Amino acid sequence: MQLAEIQEEFRVRQSSFEAAYPDLLASSSLYRTPPGFRDAILYALHAGGKRVRPVLLLETASLCGIDQRKAMYMALGLELLHTYSLVHDDLPAMDNDDLRRGKPTTHKVYGDDIGILAGDALQTLAFEMFARAGVHSNTLLFFAESAGPCGMVGGQYLDMKGGAMLRDIQDRKTGKLIESSLALAYIEIDSPKKDRVARWGRLLGLLFQITDDILDASGTAEELGKTPGKDARDQKATWVTQWGAAKTRRKAESIVRRLSKAAVSIFSGSAFLQSLPAFIYYRRQ
Ligand code: IPE
Ligand code: IPE
Ligand code: MG
Ligand code: MG
Ligand code: MG
Repeated sequence: MQLAEIQEEFRVRQSSFEAAYPDLLASSSLYRTPPGFRDAILYALHAGGKRVRPVLLLETASLCGIDQRKAMYMALGLELLHTYSLVHDDLPAMDNDDLRRGKPTTHKVYGDDIGILAGDALQTLAFEMFARAGVHSNTLLFFAESAGPCGMVGGQYLDMKGGAMLRDIQDRKTGKLIESSLALAYIEIDSPKKDRVARWGRLLGLLFQITDDILDASGTAEELGKTPGKDARDQKATWVTQWGAAKTRRKAESIVRRLSKAAVSIFSGSAFLQSLPAFIYYRRQ
């Protein structure tokens, strides 16, 4: 698939997620929350974002023959969890960012206290969606571990403390949720492919974060919808700060080649997933 083609395919899938998720939220506990709080919770979610994780989950769920409504609940759960991670990542005590998804960050609009609570609510809502999806306990366990102290939250801890191996930080803080986006459907149907898909997903997660680091160093606020140049300013350990831009790009391009080659047999039923690594690397956002 050519890059323009996969970009279009991505937009189609992104739009179907955008069209479907508000109905699922409407029948959740969110609508029994105090109205002012509800706005703060939904602010970052409705602000947009690329929706990479739900798109990946919906694509793999369709390859696995999972019911569409169930898949949509799982996809929304992932996006809620990811959105909470962003709301908390931006807090003054963490990355202290003012701009997210092209808008002022949640805590800038609603205050730090409500920002923290909005993140808490997004996280618990994520698990509510997995309960509403009616997934098996193994699927839920994988999701919980990916999100929790040995996964994303553990990675954020290492990112804050500094000094850890970069690969370990990135595998956890970004890799585990991207891995989940691809592997959860295979885990749900107990496919013999699930471990292979998970390994592929973790490497895609690494590519995703390397590209995020490249964009932080080279993109504009308009393109990214977030403040560029933050990693260098905060002396964050990233591949770009460690290796420089040229070596980082070479490394990323070799990961794209490895992933694309492996995808031909892993995802033989999806030209979209086979072309995904290039899409992730060549994104401008
Ligand atoms: C940003 O994730 C944080 C990382 C894990 C690198 P995304 O780049 O997926 O952010 P949105 O969802 O499009 O806003
Ligand atoms: C954050 O990584 C990963 C998360 C778990 C949210 P970054 O701190 O690099 O993400 P951005 O650049 O703020 O989106
Ligand atoms: Mg961060
Ligand atoms: Mg950040
Ligand atoms: Mg970043």
